[in-house]
Amino acid sequence: MAHFLLLNGPNLNLLGTREPDVYGHDTLADIEHRLEARAGEHGHSLACFQSNSEGELIDRIHTARDENIACVLFNPGAFTHTSIALRDALLGTGLACIEIHLSNTAQREAFRHHSYIADIAIGTITGFGAHGYILAMDAAMARAAETTEEK
Ligand code: DQA
Repeated sequence: MAHFLLLNGPNLNLLGTREPDVYGHDTLADIEHRLEARAGEHGHSLACFQSNSEGELIDRIHTARDENIACVLFNPGAFTHTSIALRDALLGTGLACIEIHLSNTAQREAFRHHSYIADIAIGTITGFGAHGYILAMDAAMARAAETTEEK
């Protein structure tokens, strides 16, 4: 059994009503429930946390260090493009991370093209809408299984 953490950054609490043409109609609660079920089906556990505050996200990453978290599934929202502090929190804790974006950031404004997380993440899933979270969960579980087999 592995423990995973789903982290969502600013404005993702508005999913469902926020620019639905860009981000879709699923709410964050829909996504969280789907992922908890997916992890549970495979005998794993998932904790979920969303904050609009950079400091709270950093604190949650620090706490995760002591929770034996196999992988953080992380949509940092706009902090993706601005936050050296979130990057440093991941580096400082040594937690594995998969970066997620609902929209295809490469097709959007130039300021969304750079990510402070991408090069320190295992991988990035972008452009598949809410389904991207399922893809990330499956990738994290597959990786956890591989890591366990190697031991
Ligand atoms: C986002 C993309 C970011 O550029 C944006 O600021 C968000 C959402 C996405 O999921 O597509 O808040 O992370």
